[in-house]
Amino acid sequence: MVYYIASTTAPVNIATLKYWGKRDKALNLPTNSSISVTLSQDDLRTLTSAATGPELRQDKLWLNGKEESLASERTQQCLKELRTLRKQLEDEDSSLPKFSMWGLHIVSQNNFPTAAGLASSAAGFAALVVAIARLYQLPQSMSELSEIARQGSGSACRSLFGGYVAWEMGKEADGSDSKAVEISPMEHWPQLKAAILVVNASKKDTSSTSGMQLTVKTSELFQERVKTVVPQRFIHMKEAIENKNWSRFSELTMKDSNSFHATCLDSYPPIFYMNDTSKKIVRLCHAINDFYGTYVVAYTFDAGPNAVLYYLQENEAKLFAFIYKLFDKVPGWETKFSEQDLQKFLEVYE
Ligand code: PMV
Repeated sequence: MVYYIASTTAPVNIATLKYWGKRDKALNLPTNSSISVTLSQDDLRTLTSAATGPELRQDKLWLNGKEESLASERTQQCLKELRTLRKQLEDEDSSLPKFSMWGLHIVSQNNFPTAAGLASSAAGFAALVVAIARLYQLPQSMSELSEIARQGSGSACRSLFGGYVAWEMGKEADGSDSKAVEISPMEHWPQLKAAILVVNASKKDTSSTSGMQLTVKTSELFQERVKTVVPQRFIHMKEAIENKNWSRFSELTMKDSNSFHATCLDSYPPIFYMNDTSKKIVRLCHAINDFYGTYVVAYTFDAGPNAVLYYLQENEAKLFAFIYKLFDKVPGWETKFSEQDLQKFLEVYE
């Protein structure tokens, strides 16, 4: 048997300016542009291998060791587009093997809980599209491939790039200009770190697609968000990243997380993604920043209760000493904070 195989990894990305709302559900076209930070490959990532060969008749997928269906419309759309691009190459060069006619076997492994509000679909679709594009030896750029990944899961388009990434919403009805572009590579601002506080690792109640639809249909606050708030924030956040302006970046990140969750609450009936522990984390972050009189930490929450905290490397000990004391059992941070400082902090926090 002859097999051709290609593999890739795609990391999770966490939006600092949130995508929430689709102007076209089938094409996954957003109502606003968004910005994210892609985590390092050593942290949360999907590893995907794609194989094809003349004897493979069907497309099959194994996710975390279990066979899963490839039947969803979104996955089918990605496979169709990738095959069409491969077919074009085969039509131009008849010596190429006919990959576009053969089945695909895809094996994917996440190193974190799937569908637990940790952006697993973003890393999953990004890895799927890039692995197949490599297998098919497609000449398309990452930005062009991001248009395909976008159709699998909107936020997936941003996971094709490392570092700081913008998803430009575009204007075209066919989505041909709705793609991810790099703002800066990770090396531009390596001091920026992310920590994930897993509040609840179970599957989320309201999927992002149905949540978005409800918000777009029913929230008046949402109209204001997409018309005036996000377009300005997009410019300012890009500038904050380019200038490594940490305090500006932190403020905008927290405000945008709050604004997104406010539109969820303004949906009718309301959608609650954050729980009491999430709110405790928000309060804690503000108290830490107040205590130090400067931005030490910025929180952001996606469509679930888990928190992503951004901070600068130099402030790691300052931050985790508090987290350890208040949430217990974070190993490694036990000795980093004096009791006296903790007492002073607790007076402010409680
Ligand atoms: O890509 P989706 O359909 O899973 O939606 C992602 C939505 C948020 O995570 C809440 C925001 C974002 O920009 O990633």
